[in-house]
Amino acid sequence: GKAHFGLIGLGVMGENLVLNAERNGFSSVVYNRTYAKTEDFLAGRGAGKDIVGAATLEEFVAALERPRRILMMVKAGAPVDATIASISPLLEEGDLLIDGGNSLYTDTERRAAELESKSFGYIGMGVSGGAKGALEGPSMMPGGTKAAYDAIESLVTKMAAQVEDGPCVTYIGPGGAGHFVKTVHNGIEYGIEQILAEAYDLMKRIGGLDGDAMADVLGGWNQTEELASFLVEITEVCLRTKDPESGGDLVELIVDAAGQKGTGLWTVVSALEMGVPVPTIYAALNARVLSSLRSERMAAESVLHGPAPHSFPLGEPATGMAPLRDACILACIASYGQGMALLQEASKLHDYNLDFSAIGQIWKGGCIIRARLLQRIQDAYGANPSLANLMLDPWFAAQVNQRLDGLRQVVAGAALAGIPVPCLSSTLDYIDSYRSGRLPQNLVQAMRDCFGSHTYERTDRPGAFHTEWLD
Ligand code: 6PG
Repeated sequence: GKAHFGLIGLGVMGENLVLNAERNGFSSVVYNRTYAKTEDFLAGRGAGKDIVGAATLEEFVAALERPRRILMMVKAGAPVDATIASISPLLEEGDLLIDGGNSLYTDTERRAAELESKSFGYIGMGVSGGAKGALEGPSMMPGGTKAAYDAIESLVTKMAAQVEDGPCVTYIGPGGAGHFVKTVHNGIEYGIEQILAEAYDLMKRIGGLDGDAMADVLGGWNQTEELASFLVEITEVCLRTKDPESGGDLVELIVDAAGQKGTGLWTVVSALEMGVPVPTIYAALNARVLSSLRSERMAAESVLHGPAPHSFPLGEPATGMAPLRDACILACIASYGQGMALLQEASKLHDYNLDFSAIGQIWKGGCIIRARLLQRIQDAYGANPSLANLMLDPWFAAQVNQRLDGLRQVVAGAALAGIPVPCLSSTLDYIDSYRSGRLPQNLVQAMRDCFGSHTYERTDRPGAFHTEWLD
């Protein structure tokens, strides 16, 4: 018989996803641009499975039952367009292409419009969870027409991670909605990674802790409702791991310059374009960019001087370093909240009709930002789908009110000690700004009117006003 499912692109994610599909009862056919890779896979991890290889795209297409369901796992950008160009002449009405990579959502919008006009289905699907997630059950964010989703629903609901209230996949919305949601997921991922890196830096430089002691603190945090998460869990592992040669903490031997593949940047660019403040996520992105100026930083170290080293209270390791933990909790809440606010705006702008509670649900398992906190996020948007800001939900508001002093103490201490904490300090500014009924932008408005006659509004009466300030 013909195969249920086709995969193009045998990278590690592609291999693992096809093994996942096969394990769930979907016979598969695989194609890779270099056939040797396909042969290697079929002789290795794909051996003895209900998976066949195709040497050409013609063979590949002929081996699939109709409507064909084809997942592309190729590098985002030009390779996706090239794959579509070579396979689409071989497809028939109703066949379905799924892009499972980290594509730019506007590319997905364009491709979906093009392929749907040819009566093909097109799904832009965010897939999160790394190699292990792909194999064991990722979180999946498929966007496209509802009809196209219905054609893959049985496949993706089985492949996805399962949590107590269902699989970690749902129909996200039309066009590029799935890839947009995945992009924002990654923006939040950048935020949490940087927050934990800042906590590490403070525990090391102010607290004087070594890798094992820091790992113990993270292990404790991972037992709490507020911080239990995949990223905290792997941070504990990273901090505990030793270099086999020296026996010292491996993390200390790693070059401190972080790269990126685009999704964090796209999150921030979209946020700026849509007018949604995402300062915590932006700070994380910027911290990576600045970190990559490594030789400049090393030169500047001897030119620009900071304060003399001194300490400040970070809390006791045995009790979880309470102020630092509070600071991290609020910065994580801010990352999720800023991401959700961006999704709300994008949903309005692009008519995505996103279900924010459902997005919280599918992020509870499989993905990189999975965390116990997502249950609270699911509940918050379930109770109020148009919640203006996550921090206004009663449970989250109580968190902010209870932990803001800790965040403030840590940011103030870090500032005086000359240790950069961009995500933590941006979060403090974000919260302090957001909770201010009056900000100093009245003066900005005055200046704009002064030099450019841009006019201003008044607090005491309606209308647009202009003053001849310089006369
Ligand atoms: C995931 C990850 C995954 C990938 C990121 C890393 O959800 O499984 O987000 O998609 O690891 O793209 O992004 P950077 O290389 O930009 O950090």
